[in-house]
Amino acid sequence: MITKCIFPAAGYGTRFLPATKAMAKEMLPILNKPLIQYGVEEAMEAGCDVMAVITGRGKRAIIDHFDISYELEHQIQGTPKEELLVDIRKLINECTFTYTRQNEMKGLGDAIYKGKVLVGDQNPFAVVLADDLCVNPDGDGVLKQMVELYNKYKCCIVATMEVPKEDVNKYGIIEGKEIEEGVYMVSNMVEKPDIESAPSNLAAIGRYILTPDIFRVIEQTKPGKNGELQITDALCHQAKKGMVIAYKFQGKRFDCGSVDGFVEATNYFYQKSKV
Ligand code: G1P
Repeated sequence: MITKCIFPAAGYGTRFLPATKAMAKEMLPILNKPLIQYGVEEAMEAGCDVMAVITGRGKRAIIDHFDISYELEHQIQGTPKEELLVDIRKLINECTFTYTRQNEMKGLGDAIYKGKVLVGDQNPFAVVLADDLCVNPDGDGVLKQMVELYNKYKCCIVATMEVPKEDVNKYGIIEGKEIEEGVYMVSNMVEKPDIESAPSNLAAIGRYILTPDIFRVIEQTKPGKNGELQITDALCHQAKKGMVIAYKFQGKRFDCGSVDGFVEATNYFYQKSKV
C-alpha cells in the first residue's frame, strides 16, 4: 500500500520573482486554490493520507494552509463563505501533514532524501512536484494511475511525456523499451541533457513512485547536473538493474513553474469552472 507522499517544496521559485520573494511558490493560486493543494488532492485520490512536505525558509504559509484557522472559521461560520473551506477542511480532517526542512538547496534527490525521516524506509511512497500540475478530466488522476501500475510491477515508476526536442534540456530524459502501450522499461536516464546528446524526447514529469531502497542509492549518488544531487541519477542506477518503469500517463500536465504554463493552467481551470 502506498499511503505516504513527499512534496518537495523548498525551492525558491525564482522564475516567479518578485511574487515569490516572501511567499512560497507552492502557494501561488490557480483560481482560488494554491498549487500544492491540487497536488495533495491528487495524492489523496491515489490513496495517500500522509503528506510529507519538505519545506525551507519562508514556507510557513504552507504549514498554516493545512491547519485549522480558528479565528477565520469562527468569523465566517453560518455565512455562505463557509462553503469555500469545505474542500480544505476535508483534507485537514482526513490527512496527516508532516514537515521537515531542507536547509540547503542541494537538489531534488537531496530533498527526497530529507523525506526519509517522514516516510520511513520500509514502504514504497509517492513524490509529487506541485508545480507540475496534472489533470485527467477523463478518469483517474495521474498518481492514481501510477499506483495501479506499481501494484503490477512493484518497482519505481516515473511519469513521462514527450516534449519538443528543443526542451529536453529542461527535464530528466528517459531511454527505454516500450513493454506495453505507454509503459517503458527504463534503461538509462539523463538529467537535463544537451539537445544533441539526449537519448530521446521522453521527459520525466514531477510524479514518482519510489521504493524505499532508493534512499540507500541516494546516499551513494554523487552530485550531478548543476552540482546538485539528482533523483534522475539515483533512478538511473536502479534503471540499469531493470527496476524503473516510465509511464506515459493519461491526462494533461501544466508546467506551473513557468509563467506560460501557469497562465495556461489558470485559463484551463477558469474555463472548466464556467461549464
Ligand atoms: C525536476 C527534475 C527533472 C524533471 C522535472 C519535472 O527538475 O530534476 O528530472 O524532469 O523536475 O518537472 P526541475 O524542474 O525541478 O528543475
